[in-house]
Amino acid sequence: MDLRVWVVATETSVTEAASLLSDDETARAARFTAEGARDLFVVSRAVQRMLGSALLGIAPGEVTFGRNCLRCGDRDHGKPRFLARQSLEYSVSHSGALVLVGYAPTGRIGLDIEADDRRTDLTAMLPRIASPAEGRRIGQLPPKERRSACLRLWTRKEAVAKLTGHGLALPFIKFSVDGQTASADGPVADWPDEPVWLRDLPVQAGYTAALATSPAPAEVTVERLTSLAALRV
Ligand SMILES: CC(C)(COP(=O)(O)OP(=O)(O)OC[C@H]1O[C@@H](n2cnc3c(N)ncnc32)[C@H](O)[C@@H]1OP(=O)(O)O)[C@@H](O)C(=O)NCCC(=O)NCCS
Repeated sequence: MDLRVWVVATETSVTEAASLLSDDETARAARFTAEGARDLFVVSRAVQRMLGSALLGIAPGEVTFGRNCLRCGDRDHGKPRFLARQSLEYSVSHSGALVLVGYAPTGRIGLDIEADDRRTDLTAMLPRIASPAEGRRIGQLPPKERRSACLRLWTRKEAVAKLTGHGLALPFIKFSVDGQTASADGPVADWPDEPVWLRDLPVQAGYTAALATSPAPAEVTVERLTSLAALRV
């Protein structure tokens, strides 16, 4: 299985993206007070419409989504799916000024991207996100290397959590992502039966990104989109 992941900069695509949203999405976008967060929402929802359109062979405006939170059962959040083909897995992530999207031709996928300058101090969060072995490894690194190691760890864990659909409900300290595949350290509820393969994605300087898939992809291509209309599957 070969896999393509698309990266979109909000700056170059937000105007085009805004024209693709449903009335409900446009109303939600208007409620954001922070411009950066609003632009990420607008581009994320538009690129999901374009991907659905390309995969399903329908107009972007006809794409409908289903979400289902595995924690609370709410249908307003959780892993998104195309209602017309719910077996088809895709994942989206956004941070800073970039949106990342990809789909799995077969199997499952999770993506995560983080801007390296994010304000939350992941180093301080280490006891809550790293397994004991990961915590020891990062703790032994020179201080100037710890921040990027934490970002790498976090994006890999979030990619796994988005593949399973559990999001932050997955106990991050109970599984490890240091290897080529994620491994549960003891029993983890709803842990996937199949191996979950991990890759770090070279997206852009200033960002850390990871891909989780099951099964392993042979090739992964990261493609930068300057226009959403150029998304072809
Ligand atoms: C899923 C989650 C890990 C995403 O983290 P994040 O770094 O903030 O966001 P990202 O930019 O990486 O990803 C956002 C995208 O992930 C997708 N997503 C949301 N929940 C998801 C889940 N459970 N599994 C997979 N993908 C999910 C959405 O498509 C979302 O983009 P969109 O809203 O623009 O469509 C995190 O938001 C989460 O777990 N949220 C749940 C919070 C919660 O528990 N709320 C209470 C519920 S009862």
